[in-house]
Order: sequence, then C-alpha cells, then structure tokens
Amino acid sequence: MIEFKNIHFAYNKEDIALRGVSFDVKEGEWLSIIGHNGSGKSTIAKLLIGLIKPNKGDILYDGKSLLNDNETLKYVRDHVGIVFQNPDNQFVGFNVKYDIAFGLENHKVPREEMEKLIDDWTKKVDMNEYLSREPETLSGGQKQRVAIAGIMALDCDIIILDEATSMLDPKGQEEIVELIKNIKKNYNKTLITITHDLDFAMNSDRIIVLKEGKIISEGKPSDIFKERDILLSSNLDMPFSQKAYYLASLSDKLKDNKELMDSLWEYYSTV
Ligand SMILES: Nc1ncnc2c1ncn2[C@@H]1O[C@H](COP(=O)(O)OP(=O)(O)OP(=O)(O)O)[C@@H](O)[C@H]1O
Ligand SMILES: [Mg+2]
Repeated sequence: MIEFKNIHFAYNKEDIALRGVSFDVKEGEWLSIIGHNGSGKSTIAKLLIGLIKPNKGDILYDGKSLLNDNETLKYVRDHVGIVFQNPDNQFVGFNVKYDIAFGLENHKVPREEMEKLIDDWTKKVDMNEYLSREPETLSGGQKQRVAIAGIMALDCDIIILDEATSMLDPKGQEEIVELIKNIKKNYNKTLITITHDLDFAMNSDRIIVLKEGKIISEGKPSDIFKERDILLSSNLDMPFSQKAYYLASLSDKLKDNKELMDSLWEYYSTV
C-alpha cells in the first residue's frame, strides 16, 4: 500500500540524507527501520508524511503519488499518525487533554466520543492523571506517551513511530513496547517503527537496515540478525539472546558444553 521508490533527498549540498532508497509496506504489516545515527531514518519518516519532498523518486499510497496529488496528501493527513523523535515538536494544545482533543477535532470526532477516547487512551499509556498538565512541563518519556495516546485516539490506519521509546527508562520502554505489540495484535494497523532497540525490532514482520542513506539489508528479523557483520558495521547491537549465543559460540571453553549451548540456542530461538 505504501511504495517508497528510489528516493533521493538532500537537506543541502553537504547533507545528502538519502541516496536511492526503495521499499514498500503492505497493509497490516509491521516494518522496522534500523540504522546508526544520521543514516536517514527520520528523513524517511518526514518524507512519508509529506513534510519534506524528495529531490528524486516518488512516494505512493495505494498507487497514488503523494507528490503530485493533493488528494493523497489529504489522505495521509487523515490516515497516517506519527510520533516524532523529538516530542516537543508534537504539541499544539495548552494542556494534555486539549492537545489530544485538538487532533480529534481536526478529524471531526463528535464531542461526546472525544471525552471517552481521551480518557481511554491516556489510561492505556498511564497518563490519565496528567490531563490538565501543560505539555512543556512533562518529561520526555511522558510526552512520548501522550503523543502515542493522541494518535491511537485518532484511530489512524498507518502509524509511524520515530524512536518512540528513546526517552523512556527501561521499565517505561518495556511498557510502551508491550503497548505497541498489543496495538498490533488487537487493531489492524500498519506500523512503521524506527528504532535503535533491536529487541523491539525483533517483533516486527520485516526490517530494513539503513546506512549512510542507503538500504544495506532487508528481511525478516531472524534473517537480519544472522547477518552479524551488517549489524556491527551499522554500529547496532544484536538482541541480548542472540549476543549470548553468539559470544558463547566463540568461546572454546563454552562452545563444547552442549547443554549450555542448547539452552542458549533455545533462548535465542524463542525470544
Ligand atoms: N534539518 C536538517 N538540515 C540539514 N541536515 C539535516 C537536517 N536533518 C537531518 N540532517 C542530516 O541528514 C542526515 C540524516 O539525518 P536523519 O535525521 O534522517 O538521521 P537518523 O537516521 O534519523 O539519525 P538519528 O538516529 O540520530 O535520529 C544526517 O547527516 C543529518 O545530519
Ligand atoms: Mg532520527
């Protein structure tokens, strides 16, 4: 349903962010985009919602170009929800409640439904007690939670999360990862997650690895994590379970301990 075709993008002469990137995302699919700092991930997110335009290439939603078709741009405004990497850019309302309400109003959600949606989703992200707080007074992680509640309340079909757990502590990260997994399971959303957290990316259907504005690998999580060199060359770490198995397999002392290796392999395969 989304086609990102041979996209080139430069912010200026020196800062070439994307050098011919192509991928597609099917309806209901969960795609993760991983890659080192500055590899072009957030640039892809901004292009996908029409915030910036490519120098070359095309972006299609259901076969229709986002670049030459105002209808498609409108479709994207109505159906694609994004949580930005820096949540400060996200807020418009003077407090949490009105911030979420503002988005709902733009989507013409009736007032009676609004209250319930805001109440439900702020509860799900554990921010219900903060409804009257000004967004600026929230921590980074709290802002990310509110932003997620906001796009879920809007019931967008396509959700883009750019490092949506980056400002959370481990417990908060785990909660949001669980929330996102549940959203995927219970609602038929198309998900694009940009993340440094490979354990999180393991949950997606497909992964794209980006390096210096190009895709260097693409595939199912299990395939990507076999390509250790690619992950290392991208400064990315392997999930803990895989690292444990891999490192044990390098150690002469450990690798002959069949029982240990079998358990690590089991751990590797089930996590
Ligand atoms: N507004 C901008 N003006 C100029 N250059 C930019 C701008 N935003 C990003 N860049 C450059 O474009 C390249 C890609 O940046 P992008 O933000 O897409 O990377 P990223 O993969 O999201 O990185 P990170 O993991 O740090 O968030 C980088 O070299 C960056 O310096
Ligand atoms: Mg980024």
